[in-house]
Amino acid sequence: MNLIRSIKGTKDILPEESSLWQFIESSIHSFMNSYGYDEIRTPKFENSSLFNRSIGVNTDIVSKEMYTWTDQGNNSLTLKPEVTASVVRAFIQHNLGKQKQLNKFYYIDSLFRRERPQKGRYRQFEQFGVEAIGSKNPEQDAEIISMAYFFYESLGINNLNLKINSIGSKESRLAYKKALTDFFKPYKEQLTSTSKNRLIDNPLRILDTKVDFEKEIIKNAPKIIDFLSEEDEKHFNKVLFYLEKLDIKYEIDHLLVRGLDYYCNTVFEIQSSLLGSQSALCGGGRYDYLIEELGGKSTPAIGFAAGIERLIIALDNNIELNNSPDIYMVTLGDSTIDIGLKIAYDLRKHCEFTVISDMLQKNMKSQLKEANKLKAKYAIIIGENEIINKEAVIKNMLTGDQENINFNQIINYFKK
Ligand code: HAM
Repeated sequence: MNLIRSIKGTKDILPEESSLWQFIESSIHSFMNSYGYDEIRTPKFENSSLFNRSIGVNTDIVSKEMYTWTDQGNNSLTLKPEVTASVVRAFIQHNLGKQKQLNKFYYIDSLFRRERPQKGRYRQFEQFGVEAIGSKNPEQDAEIISMAYFFYESLGINNLNLKINSIGSKESRLAYKKALTDFFKPYKEQLTSTSKNRLIDNPLRILDTKVDFEKEIIKNAPKIIDFLSEEDEKHFNKVLFYLEKLDIKYEIDHLLVRGLDYYCNTVFEIQSSLLGSQSALCGGGRYDYLIEELGGKSTPAIGFAAGIERLIIALDNNIELNNSPDIYMVTLGDSTIDIGLKIAYDLRKHCEFTVISDMLQKNMKSQLKEANKLKAKYAIIIGENEIINKEAVIKNMLTGDQENINFNQIINYFKK
């Protein structure tokens, strides 16, 4: 019989890895809470039109990568390829802007994109991210960018390369798009078919090309920075000023445009050389028009999202987690099992210990071997003699010292 295997680009997180995931997730929760951001959870699938309208129909994500299907009720549904659109939908649907002038959200979520799988790129992947909806001020940009930066630093990931750009307001971009289109016109026949299409839909995306000869052409292309309005420029310079004050090094990358259509003004990515070709640890930017475009009241917003698999690659096994149990409960013989289960329960309840009980009725040597393997701090041994004397042997697994302690005194012994 053929074995059924997992789908290409998806992966199982097995127990040996899941403790790292738990550690990362709890670090995200406490880090985000320390900035006053609240968790938001949105459904795993949405109406397809939400992503078509927000990410943009000509982007790679929408045109090639979404998992979309028609359900039994003839609705076009899509597995979420990113979270920002869903957060904005929820923000509008629940009228959150009315309750608070500034809404600060974070999330940890599973996303789906049908990309070509490789190291750091999967078809189901996990992201954490933040969205601050309500402030147009540059300090909000600086807070968001610094949160990404400092989060990586807090986990010991250094050598971060923050790339930042401003793609301006709609008005600034209009003039720039025209200049870019004029610039590329003489090269039109040389361009790849993707870039030819982009020339019509969104010439800015040509700057994102990975094709060498196009990169050469782009070297002489006009730069968005020269087309920014005075207000855009002032905003961008203030963001840079705040980053400098926070001692965050950045590199202005005139070619950074990001692959989603909703951005304006500040866009950024943090890259790490540890990642190989999928070098972006995270990316984000402003999307001041999106809320209105999705039917809400015009509200400025900015956020970022970060892949957790890529974070794990960048951690490069540098996190040491201590998952060893406090107690290994050794029970020897049928008559000892009930008292062993009860003591284990009491220790978890009153001492908040991690207690592992033998479930295979192995002999003493094997159980102590297992306790050693798991690096348990103590073994509690209960054999038939111990039942008669109503006391257990408590063995310190590090020193080998043993003591006999009355069953009723075990909790007190450990509390001391
Ligand atoms: P994005 O650049 O598409 O932006 O994704 C953000 C991050 O998710 C990437 O930098 C990468 O770490 C991770 N990522 C993306 N695709 C994959 C994949 N196929 N496999 C593994 N990791 C991946 C967004 O998603 C925007 N919603 C970010 C944002 C939030 N902008 C404003 N607010």
